[in-house]
Amino acid sequence: MRKLIIAALLLLSPTVLLANAEGPALQSSNIDLHDQASLQRGAKYFVNYCLGCHSLQYMRYNRLAKDLGIDEVTLRENLLFGDAKPGALMENAMRADDQLKWFGVVVPDLTLVTRWRSPDWVYTYLKSFYVDSTRPYGVNNLMFPLVAMPHGLSNLQGVQEPVFDHHQAGATPVVVGVKLVKEGLLSPKEYDNMVRDITAFLTYAGEPIQLERQRLGVYVLLFLGFLFILAYLMKKEYWKDIH
Ligand code: HEC
Repeated sequence: MRKLIIAALLLLSPTVLLANAEGPALQSSNIDLHDQASLQRGAKYFVNYCLGCHSLQYMRYNRLAKDLGIDEVTLRENLLFGDAKPGALMENAMRADDQLKWFGVVVPDLTLVTRWRSPDWVYTYLKSFYVDSTRPYGVNNLMFPLVAMPHGLSNLQGVQEPVFDHHQAGATPVVVGVKLVKEGLLSPKEYDNMVRDITAFLTYAGEPIQLERQRLGVYVLLFLGFLFILAYLMKKEYWKDIH
């Protein structure tokens, strides 16, 4: 009976419901927030390939530089465009009405994207564009059907075609995967690494204090350990005459 109740509760739990939700499988991004070089590369790629359209409106350049160990000269040479000041927020100059005109949507700010999606989702999304001549920019995305974003990294990744599931009944076959049919400037492995760096950077941007918190956490644990020893010795001292 108990087993039955546990099974029923598990079935009803949201994780199971989510896991059963329809959608293509996510690939594991394997990001490492302690790999500073990866975060630095991610920041550079983001500024070069994404910031033109997507802002990071809760992030300041100098905060990023400080957290990721980027010195002022490198910051100015590699990450700051035009007359942007180091203390400025990472915004861009695109106006909302232009965005609507060009893409039909307002381009989302990406500061929190890995929190409302997940790092694995963003990683998989950046690997899931495929050619689709019915779309305005010639691409669609397995993770985001009818996506309005052009594939800005296609010259690096190459061309991917959709894989259809012809076994399902219905007039239009369903896209169930993608396959690389023409390599771009990067090998698949190099492209994966690039996308991993971008995902790592966006995950950091979604919660910059995460790195600091983990560092502080170690000190807190050490302090608690020390306090434990002290308290134990004190207890021994207080009780030594009573036994
Ligand atoms: C030319 C403009 C443009 C560029 C460059 C661009 N994007 Fe986008 N992106 C868009 C638009 C428009 C959308 C909204 C898609 C929609 O709602 O259909 C979008 C959506 C997204 C989403 C999904 C957000 C959500 O709703 O969950 C992610 C993630 C994303 N972009 C990441 C990136 C990354 C990373 C780069 C850089 C490698 C990048 N984009 C470059 C225009 C762009």
